Amino acid sequence: MPDTPDDSRAEEWVSETGDVRPLLAPPVTPLGRPIRLGVLISGGGSTLANFLRCRGEGLLDAEFPLVIASRPDCGGLQIAKNAGIRAEVVSLKDFNSTDEFSERIFSLLREVQVDLVTLAGFLCLVRIPSDFANRVMNIHPGLIPSFCGKGLYGMKVHEAVLARGCKVSGCTVHFADNVYDHGPIIVQKAVPVLEGDTPQTLAARVFEAECQAYPEAIRLFANARLIVTGSCVRILEQPL
Ligand code: GRF
Repeated sequence: MPDTPDDSRAEEWVSETGDVRPLLAPPVTPLGRPIRLGVLISGGGSTLANFLRCRGEGLLDAEFPLVIASRPDCGGLQIAKNAGIRAEVVSLKDFNSTDEFSERIFSLLREVQVDLVTLAGFLCLVRIPSDFANRVMNIHPGLIPSFCGKGLYGMKVHEAVLARGCKVSGCTVHFADNVYDHGPIIVQKAVPVLEGDTPQTLAARVFEAECQAYPEAIRLFANARLIVTGSCVRILEQPL
């Protein structure tokens, strides 16, 4: 599996100062309208619930044309339903391969014309097509590149952090590529690990940080403040 998406797009955008980047994403000018988010879930949907809370509080100017769940029993499906959001279930087991599974997911996302895909507790690997390169974000409940990768998700991350005796943990929002928890890092927030922490108390503290970090990364994307250069993201003070 390649480390980066197949990027066959020839078109590039060059700024007055000579910055060069692919034309498609992240946006080169602020969207100036609500960002259209696709949200992919596998579990309870706490990140989706946070997005909706942020929108309600005026912290996230977003529309949610589609939620995709990888299992029919995801608690997050009820959250989508309550919010009047279209939700589809796309299960890996119904497809012959990760490629076919991914094609179905991204064809649904294309149909509804999302600006950005947010992995929100989505536990399946997807193959990201070239037109979605740097248009898929993920949040990980740890400080990448520590305690991440296949099999390290949810409570397992916090258990591993405590077992190693770490003094800080946190969360990472990054652009997803075709490797678990691997693409360019956009936002990280650290939290202390406290004496007597359990995986649950640490998870709650990290989740508070997640609730700020993910909307922040989405706002930066929508406001054309992100530039991807190789494996790094630069955050601009203002759009170019
Ligand atoms: C988030 O806390 C995030 O860290 C991780 O999944 C969690 C959301 O899961 N990627 P859930 O949908 O509430 O089960």
